[in-house]
Amino acid sequence: MMTEAPNTVAFTPDRLAKSKEIIARYPEGRQKSALLPLLHLAQEQWGWVSPEVMDYVAELLSILPIEVYEVATFYTMFHLDPVGKHVIEYCRTGPCCLMGGEDVYGYLREKLGVEAGQTTADGKFTVKEVECLAACGWGPVFQIREKYYMNLTRERVDEIIDELSK
Ligand code: FES
Repeated sequence: MMTEAPNTVAFTPDRLAKSKEIIARYPEGRQKSALLPLLHLAQEQWGWVSPEVMDYVAELLSILPIEVYEVATFYTMFHLDPVGKHVIEYCRTGPCCLMGGEDVYGYLREKLGVEAGQTTADGKFTVKEVECLAACGWGPVFQIREKYYMNLTRERVDEIIDELSK
């Protein structure tokens, strides 16, 4: 779901408790090790990680905001802008493209009327290009949240979009 940047940034009580439990797993002075799980928690709550959210995570970990920015901007799984209800990430790496990825991904973009990195006008779908999703033998591949959709064809894209549109 598309959301604007939060005005006041704070985890919900359950996520705050979870973040403290995660931070406590690491020795004193090594709180930064909890950065990735905290960013996942943040994205789960807000749908994306705004600069304000990254600053909040830095505060929780007693580290500099830049230390959060450099990690969040490195991994494509973190959304740095608001996204749609469903984020479709497709593998653009060579093996998937050789197995028909370019045609399937082009069909997806055309069907949704967006380019990679864009969100549909109704806020339902965001399409992102990512590198190898480690399912090279089963390409072309989408990842939508934790689920993989493999051996994709145009027909399968129609089915997936229909299913998610309900
Ligand atoms: Fe697409 Fe590895 S090349 S999953």
